[in-house]
Amino acid sequence: MIENVTARSILNSRGEWTIEVTLRSGEWKVTASVPQGESRGSREVVSLPADQAVKNILEIIAPTIIGHKLGDQNNFDDKLKKLDGTPNKEKLGGNALLGVSMAYSRLSALSANLSLWQYLRELAIPSVKNAQHSVLPVTPPRLLSLMIEGGLHAPGASPFQEYLVLPRATTIIESINIITKLYSTLRQLISDRFGSSATRLGDEGAFAPATNDPLAPFALITEASQASGLADKFEVGLDAAADNVSLNPEELNILYDQARMNYPLRYLEDPFKENELDNFVSLLTKFDKGLMIAGDDLTVTNVERMKLAQAKKSINAMIIKPNQIGTVTETLEAVKLAREYGWKVIVSHRGQETNDDFIADLAWGIGADGIKLGAPARGERVAKYNRLLEIEATLLT
Ligand code: PGA
Ligand code: ZN
Repeated sequence: MIENVTARSILNSRGEWTIEVTLRSGEWKVTASVPQGESRGSREVVSLPADQAVKNILEIIAPTIIGHKLGDQNNFDDKLKKLDGTPNKEKLGGNALLGVSMAYSRLSALSANLSLWQYLRELAIPSVKNAQHSVLPVTPPRLLSLMIEGGLHAPGASPFQEYLVLPRATTIIESINIITKLYSTLRQLISDRFGSSATRLGDEGAFAPATNDPLAPFALITEASQASGLADKFEVGLDAAADNVSLNPEELNILYDQARMNYPLRYLEDPFKENELDNFVSLLTKFDKGLMIAGDDLTVTNVERMKLAQAKKSINAMIIKPNQIGTVTETLEAVKLAREYGWKVIVSHRGQETNDDFIADLAWGIGADGIKLGAPARGERVAKYNRLLEIEATLLT
C-alpha cells in the first residue's frame, strides 16, 4: 500500500515549473513528472500552476490515498477523479492527478515485479490478465519523429507546427538509425542553405529554418533523404496544429493536396481548427485510404470528444496524451474506444517535457500504432527514444 506521498516543483524543458510526485511503499520508491502543452486544445483538463498543484497533492490528495493498496489502478484513479469532482479537473488540477496516477502505476508495477509497459499492457488487455506476457503479440510502435518545427514551437519559422518522418523499419533501433542519419544530413543542408545560425533548434529539438512556404520543410527533408541514401526509407507526416495557423480551410486543402501529390504523406494531424469538424469530414472522405488523419486538439484524449468526432466520421487516427485527460485509467479508456472505432492510436510527447519516459512504456504497453516524439536531440526527447530502445532490447534477448 501507499505509505508516503511527496510532491515538489521541478523545471520542464522550457525553463518553467511543473510537478514531480514521489510515492513510497516499504523499500520501493518511484517518481513521476508531468509534461505541459504549448499548443493546447481548448478542451484539455486544467493544468494548475505547479505550486498550487503541489499544495493540492500534499494537503488534499495525500491524506486520501495513503493506505490505498497497490495494483488497483481503476479504483485508485476513480478515487482521484471523485476527489476532484469537476469535469475538467479544475479543482485539484489535471497535472496533480496525473502525476499521482502515473507514480501509482510505477509503484504497482514494481510491487508486481513487472516492467511498467507490462503492467500497462495488463490494464489495457484485461481479458488476458493471467496470460503469459510472452504469448501476447508485441510489436514496436512506429516512430513519428520531428525533423522541422514551426508554429507556436518556433515562432518565425514555418506556419505549420511539425514536419515528421515515419521510418519504414521493423524495429525501434532500425528506425532510430534512419532518423539520426537524416537529422544530421538535414543539419548540414540547412546550414549550407540558410547559414549556420539557421540550425537553431525549436522547443522539441527539431530544426526551425525561417520560411513562409508551408511545404518547404518537406522539400528540405526530401533533399536530405536523397543526399543520405534514405529516399525510400520513410514516409512523412504533418501536424498542422491548425488552431494556431492563419490560413483558411480552402488554402489548407490546397496545401494538403499538394503535400499528398509531391511527398509520401502518411500522417496528418489537426488539419483544421478544432471547431471545424465538417472540414475534417470532407478531407477524410477524400483521403481515407492511405492517410492517417488524426485528432489531437480535436479529441484531447477525451471519450466524449471522441464520440463527437466519430459520429461525423471525421478522423481515422488519434493522439493520446495522458495529461490532456488527467489519469492513466481515462487514458486507457480513450485507447480502448479508439480501437473500437478502428482508429490508429498514436501516443505523443508534449511541447514542454520532463525526462520522464512514461509514454515510451505506454506506447509499448498498449501496442500503439505509433509514438510521436521530438527530434533525437535535447535530453527530455532523447529519454523517450532511449526507453523505447531499452524495452526493445529486453524483448529481443
Ligand atoms: P503541445 O503540442 O504539446 O505543445 O501542445 C504538441 C502537439 O500539438 O502535438
Ligand atoms: Zn498536435
